[in-house]
Amino acid sequence: MSTIKEQLIENLVAEDKDSQCKITIVGVGAVGMACAISILLKGLADELALVDVSSDKLKGETMDLQHGSLFFSTSKITSGKDYNVSANSKIVIITAGARQQEGESRLALVQRNVNIMKSIIPTIVRYSPNCKMLVVSNPGLIWNTRRNLSQYPLHLGSEWCLRCCEN
Ligand SMILES: NC(=O)c1ccc[n+]([C@@H]2O[C@H](COP(=O)([O-])OP(=O)(O)OC[C@H]3O[C@@H](n4cnc5c(N)ncnc54)[C@H](O)[C@@H]3O)[C@@H](O)[C@H]2O)c1
Repeated sequence: MSTIKEQLIENLVAEDKDSQCKITIVGVGAVGMACAISILLKGLADELALVDVSSDKLKGETMDLQHGSLFFSTSKITSGKDYNVSANSKIVIITAGARQQEGESRLALVQRNVNIMKSIIPTIVRYSPNCKMLVVSNPGLIWNTRRNLSQYPLHLGSEWCLRCCEN
């Protein structure tokens, strides 16, 4: 039975419930933020988490999204360099990657991006073992490495084949 004090005080702040559909985006560059805006506008997640190695960029992008959150149905937007913010995600979209530098071969770019994936994927799996991962990478050859890094099944769409052929 509740006390008079408990009856008089109404909790106006919603309790922090576990997210049912959490999406994490790794990499808040051009592609990552395009994904974030699309997810928010379509109301696809009840929690959106952002991860990047660049803390300044991460802070700026997160604040921009949070300032616009009045217009979104996604109630929680979090971010951090530490992957613990991604815990229990249903979907993790990896858009972190290196851009091709002038004179750099596609194969050299693959190696740089493979190294980035090696640092990212095992940590994602540790925090969200049941998540589905979407990788936006360049070149598409990186997918083969992703399979070895996570030890989870790989599903490739026809678009992947097309893009891979282009690469
Ligand atoms: N922009 C395009 O039109 C396009 C098209 C096809 C493919 N891609 C590929 O998609 C990927 C992302 O492209 P973009 O234009 O958003 O690049 P971008 O340079 O704008 O953003 C990449 C982001 O990844 C972050 N990052 C780098 N290493 C990281 C790490 N280890 N952990 C976490 N974050 C890290 C960077 O800080 C940066 O914010 C690249 O691999 C790119 O080649 C881009």
